[in-house]
Amino acid sequence: MDLALDKSELGELSDLVAHRLGLAFGEDRWPDLERGLRAAGAELGFEGANDGRRWLAGPLTARQVETLASHLTVSETYFFREPGSFAVLEREILPPLVARRASTTRSLRLWSAGCCTGEEAYSLAIACARGLPDLPTWRVSVHGTDINLKSLSKAETGLYGEWSFRNAPEWLRAQYFSSAPGKKFSVAPFVKSLVHFSYLNLAEDRYPSLHNETNALDVIFFRNVLMYFTPEHQARVAAALHRCLVDDGVLLVAPAEASSALFSMFKQERFGDVLVFRKAALPVQVAVASAPPTQVARTPPALASRPAATVHPKPRPAAEAAKSPARQQVVAPPGADALAVARTCANEGRLEEAAVACQAAIAADRGNPAAQYLHAVVCRELGQLDDAVAALGKVLYLDQDFILAHHTLGGLYRQLGKVRHSRRHLDIALQLLAAHARDELVPESDGMTCGRLAESIRNQREA
Ligand SMILES: C[S@@+](CC[C@H](N)C(=O)[O-])C[C@H]1O[C@@H](n2cnc3c(N)ncnc32)[C@H](O)[C@@H]1O
Repeated sequence: MDLALDKSELGELSDLVAHRLGLAFGEDRWPDLERGLRAAGAELGFEGANDGRRWLAGPLTARQVETLASHLTVSETYFFREPGSFAVLEREILPPLVARRASTTRSLRLWSAGCCTGEEAYSLAIACARGLPDLPTWRVSVHGTDINLKSLSKAETGLYGEWSFRNAPEWLRAQYFSSAPGKKFSVAPFVKSLVHFSYLNLAEDRYPSLHNETNALDVIFFRNVLMYFTPEHQARVAAALHRCLVDDGVLLVAPAEASSALFSMFKQERFGDVLVFRKAALPVQVAVASAPPTQVARTPPALASRPAATVHPKPRPAAEAAKSPARQQVVAPPGADALAVARTCANEGRLEEAAVACQAAIAADRGNPAAQYLHAVVCRELGQLDDAVAALGKVLYLDQDFILAHHTLGGLYRQLGKVRHSRRHLDIALQLLAAHARDELVPESDGMTCGRLAESIRNQREA
């Protein structure tokens, strides 16, 4: 197809691409932009230049923007790419983290942001498996996200060809893969069970958020994505990733992207060639019982005084306490309600405490669907999928129009292989969203707009 775009059309398109995808296309890269557009046009079925111009003139759907993204970004990845980063993960980052968590939550949360076809996410899971001889007694969650639906579909199969193993260490295939038809290799089921994938546009979607599992992360690998972003998006993403981490959590970017200036909000640790960005623990404030009710509750002890509450927050172990000594001393302010406490715990990744606080919130107000919904999300994060489904059933019993309950059920049923149920709930969520303005906020969603959620659900259905 010959689009023959003129300068002003290319200028407009590069602005659009920057806005919707965060991708930078300066004038020197307009030939690349035009090439990508031509390929996207072919995939979307445009007949010729006029058709393409009409498309450009109209508002682009999310699906069109994402097809465009797949032709404008490089989908290049392989197992244990930039092995120095994985060596640092295995030798320097995981051992102290595992030691700290061994006597507490026994859980690790990792995110491969811009995971492409999944090799990076599975490499992270394998690194965790190597560092945890007693893996079955741990809850390890590796989340891979990308904007490219085709890449995500491939990632979900866990099937890879020879090319994905270029530069991979010798032991990788023998220990963590089995041969599959068509000269492919299938990732071991126990590794696959640690990893899940979902769609997330780093330029447009909200994070951190409990709802897309981008909160309370221990490790983020965000490599070979940043370099394509505009300076404005680079800064925005860096700040958001900082918020996604727990205290002491780490971010790794590709060596070429490791800009001290851009990541100045992090503490920097150098291990040979690898620069690690660590989120320093916040200076701790000890709240007093007379603090104003707006004060954030860090732990739920105030609940103990409520008749319905049975919250007994676990004391943190000495090793963790030594790092941020006063954090455990924070007293929930008077009036802090159980649901707020549950939210805080969940956002900080203290899921067991969040679950207990949710139960207290439910016991205090059985008719509150928001408490049941939070309980469902916490169960999902704890890997208790059946409990999460049951809790969502209770939400819908209380409020059948609870949009996020339908959305979350759609995702859970998909994970459980119940495709028809999944579609039904995603369709209901779409119908409910259609009754709202695009820029209205979805209730209980951490600020996601109805328009964005609808786009994301349409993508999920297509995937
Ligand atoms: C070169 S791959 C990097 C894969 C992997 N992180 C690695 O280092 O091997 C870049 C990935 O970033 C994704 N990407 C580009 N823009 C994105 C955006 N706005 N949101 C999410 N992912 C995006 C692309 O779809 C592509 O899969």
